[in-house]
Amino acid sequence: MSDETVLLEMNHVRKEFPGVIALKDVSLRLRAGEVHALLGENGAGKSTLIKVLGGIYTANAGEIRINGKPVSIHSVQDAHHNGISVIHQELVLVPHMTIAENIYLGREPVKGNRAVDFRIMNSEVKSILESFELEMKPDEEVSSLTIAQQQMVEIIKALSFNAKILVMDEPTSSLSEKDVGFLFDTIRKLKTQGVGIIYISHRMSELKQITDRITVIRDGEYIGTRDTAAASTDELIAMMVGRQLTNYYTRDFGTPGEPVLEVRNLSDGKVLKDISFSLRKGEILGFAGLVGAGRSELMKAIFGLWPFTGGEILVKGKNVTIRNPDDAMRLGLVLVPESRKLEAIYPEMSVMFNITLKTLKEFIKGLFVDHEKEKAITREQVETMAIKTPSYSQTTGNLSGGNQQKVVIGRWLATKPGILILDEPTKGVDVGAKAEIYGIMNSLVKQGVSIIMISSELPEVINMADRVIVMSAGRITACLPRESLSQEEIMKHATQFII
Ligand SMILES: Nc1ncnc2c1ncn2[C@@H]1O[C@H](COP(=O)(O)OP(=O)(O)OP(=O)(O)O)[C@@H](O)[C@H]1O
Ligand SMILES: [Mg+2]
Repeated sequence: MSDETVLLEMNHVRKEFPGVIALKDVSLRLRAGEVHALLGENGAGKSTLIKVLGGIYTANAGEIRINGKPVSIHSVQDAHHNGISVIHQELVLVPHMTIAENIYLGREPVKGNRAVDFRIMNSEVKSILESFELEMKPDEEVSSLTIAQQQMVEIIKALSFNAKILVMDEPTSSLSEKDVGFLFDTIRKLKTQGVGIIYISHRMSELKQITDRITVIRDGEYIGTRDTAAASTDELIAMMVGRQLTNYYTRDFGTPGEPVLEVRNLSDGKVLKDISFSLRKGEILGFAGLVGAGRSELMKAIFGLWPFTGGEILVKGKNVTIRNPDDAMRLGLVLVPESRKLEAIYPEMSVMFNITLKTLKEFIKGLFVDHEKEKAITREQVETMAIKTPSYSQTTGNLSGGNQQKVVIGRWLATKPGILILDEPTKGVDVGAKAEIYGIMNSLVKQGVSIIMISSELPEVINMADRVIVMSAGRITACLPRESLSQEEIMKHATQFII
């Protein structure tokens, strides 16, 4: 392909933060009409590169060219003027504003008397929402939307700029399959219009499906660019992690023991319908289903975070009442939530603070704080989870997205639970870290811990679980033993009440 088709060039970009060189020397060439993946481990520098392009950070060195001409981008407005629109990894919508207000933020249509023209705004957004077949209203407040819906609003907002260069930083991390389908259709349409798209995702299958080329970066350095069709997953993983990754799934299957958690006829009068199941000692019980099947609500109900109207919960054979997470923790039961960003991270606090939040009792006795113990708890989690941080005192919000997730998982592991519920534990986590998390899960169950794993990634459920419960529309539709697990079998039960 000739150089004329190069829409965007980022050359030798360098970006330093205090104590961290996020980008040492990264280059990227994006062609018109191509979908170009940016691939790399957690903390490799993907989001930072995108923030340089989007005007959120200014690089310490390097240049950006559009259609061959050098441009200077020092603000989000500069980026928009240069035809660049970015969907960031962290949602940046204003919660108490409506969908339409968020989409038009800073460029609201005005009437003759300079007042904002809400009628035009709402009617335009209404037609966009309809064209995406989304059941949302323009004047709905963003705070009342689910995370998946908020993500769709972000996507629509980015599209509404009619950008020539569109960047998506993990856009599908909480979307349902249907929404992913819409997103991919939209991407294909934009390609034919000559839009260049930079696409970041840790899901290899998505990259294979939607991208034309893949650029890999590692530790802030450019590693290489490949045509997607010609690149094997093994090669890409080796480029990402700098070595061949063997033993992706680690699992030594044993014979699970007696039931440690039993749920009987649990209903909440809304989402959950007559749920019964049991979890045995030393087993990994997978929970599969489509987004919205009620899996997260069920786990929250068990953990005291979601009210239910009927049913009972037994821990180690005894009937228990769990009114809140503290009750649950006293029973040795913990839940690592799915939307860790919203439900769990204190971004402005240190890594040590976030990791030790649930184990304070172990090192604070009255007025005395045992700092050595506090550090030891932090060190254990930073090491076992391989959390990439320059120090324990680093502000957690400055870690890469995936590393923030590991901090939250580490917080709960530090409590040494007997029953661990993980809601999408590997979402947004790179392949190397995924393998680490599988390894940790395996060693925990070997020590007699029991794990419930909600996951939308079928291969991981199939490879890691002793049994898999499938949910659809708030009901359990199957409980499959390991021997009869396949993607087809799970999907059949996952769509039972829907199709
Ligand atoms: N504002 C900041 N202050 C300090 N360090 C930062 C800041 N933003 C990013 N970093 C650091 O820069 C490095 C690259 O982070 P970045 O968010 O770009 O990674 P990423 O490739 O997007 O990872 P992920 O897949 O986890 O989202 C990390 O070490 C991160 O801790
Ligand atoms: Mg990122």
